Amino acid sequence: MKLTTKFLGISLANPLVLASGILGTTGASLAAAVKAGAGAATSKSVWLRRHDGHSNPTVLNLGGGNLLNAVGLPHGGIEEARVEFENFRKLSSAPLFASIAASNFEEFGETAAAVAELKPDLMELNISCPNVESEFGRPFACSIRDTKKVVKIVKKKCGAIPLAVKLSPNVENIAEIARAAETAGADAITAVNTVGPGMVIDIETAEPILLNRVGGLSGPAIRPLAVRAVWEIFEAVKIPIIGTGGVANGRDAIEMMEAGASLVGIGSAAKDGLEIFGKIKKEIEKWCESRGIENISELTGKAHRS
Ligand code: DHB
Repeated sequence: MKLTTKFLGISLANPLVLASGILGTTGASLAAAVKAGAGAATSKSVWLRRHDGHSNPTVLNLGGGNLLNAVGLPHGGIEEARVEFENFRKLSSAPLFASIAASNFEEFGETAAAVAELKPDLMELNISCPNVESEFGRPFACSIRDTKKVVKIVKKKCGAIPLAVKLSPNVENIAEIARAAETAGADAITAVNTVGPGMVIDIETAEPILLNRVGGLSGPAIRPLAVRAVWEIFEAVKIPIIGTGGVANGRDAIEMMEAGASLVGIGSAAKDGLEIFGKIKKEIEKWCESRGIENISELTGKAHRS
């Protein structure tokens, strides 16, 4: 069966994508994900200027593959991204997706312009991090108006590079926000970012464990939320979706595609080893072959046709 897929004109060996996040700070780690079986890799969110994240503890392992994290979008800035993207290109010919972050509209425009010069295959606009609210206010992805405004600004700077907008699950109208992003010029939607924020308290000291107090929840616990969001977005827009949230095996990836995803992001599940990409790929292949499915793209949106 055929796992190769085209997404906005980009050729991928398979629909699995390393999601932006804990991995993906260096070209070597992005390339390692591809070598392990990912069809594309997404960088950690790139900032124009150095942005210090939060101090430790930043990540809590909640068990069952679930994480609560508030790393606070640390990044070394555009020159570091330039070096790491070059390193990736030396090691891999797979598509590279560049996530970008900024603290305000204007800076998002400047960052997009600078990152566009690095020629990633796709730009992913991170307007949905739940952990920098105290620094920058509510994420843009929580507002139709802010989403439209930032997408319009960034799209102008992307040139021929396709733009995916990463949405927050922490809203009651994600489909409307996806439609706003589409109207403003987005070429794709990435859904979803982490859920929350959430909190875990050390019951002895009676203090929140994360230094940031709160963090974004990821892992299998959020998968049904992500699947529902992707399902709703698929009904609302014509642009393709990168379905992300709690996917940890072949079954989960197939479910995400049936909900409407064209590509499937893998984040938390990759934390314990990149072998997960090869494993998920094999599981998808086996499942499809036993059911006579010849082309992986047949799965996208299947739940809307049944
Ligand atoms: C961080 C960023 C995110 O987009 C997210 O969902 C969770 C955490 C961070 O860098 O803290």
